[in-house]
Amino acid sequence: MAGKAPHVVGVEVLKKNGLDVDELVKQLVANSSVEFTAYYYFTLLRANCTGMDGEGMKGVIEDARLEDLSHFESCIERIYQLGGQLPRDAADYIKMAGCEFLQLPSDPTDLKAILKKCLKAEQGAIVNWNKVCRMTHGKDPVTHDIARDILAEEIEHESWFLELLHGRPSGHMRRRYSGERPHTRRHSRALDMA
Ligand SMILES: [Fe+2]
Ligand SMILES: [Fe+2]
Repeated sequence: MAGKAPHVVGVEVLKKNGLDVDELVKQLVANSSVEFTAYYYFTLLRANCTGMDGEGMKGVIEDARLEDLSHFESCIERIYQLGGQLPRDAADYIKMAGCEFLQLPSDPTDLKAILKKCLKAEQGAIVNWNKVCRMTHGKDPVTHDIARDILAEEIEHESWFLELLHGRPSGHMRRRYSGERPHTRRHSRALDMA
């Protein structure tokens, strides 16, 4: 559909608030690609948690994995509302994540190495979402709300893996079920089955 570009008041007000909308869209698309890729990556890591100890890790990795899918879903609508779009080519999208480190350890069932990979992914995600929080603070309450909720879950995920790796207590209450996503569920309603 061509024609004159319509007024989009929802974007114009953000520009008046001093927000660089193009920069925000770029960051949001990049962050969403990291979440999408991380979902795949955690699938791979979870599948390689073998043995008795591996069995104990699977549940935690599963909770983090399903919440990354929720983080990807949480971005989509906002990207389009802001006038952005997802790349046409899925391969381009994955490359955008810049996540070359997202590979199985050289010994794929080395549980400690798997936990280190999980921790690194969560810490990268915290930096990514903190960036969006800073860009939108006081300027774009809708995106800020999404980014803050994702950030809250990433901080929880980091604390789970810190506890498993270093014995640093996380104050972790188990999710009631995998995919509960306590902070982001309102942004990823498409994942609700009911
Ligand atoms: Fe995430
Ligand atoms: Fe995470």
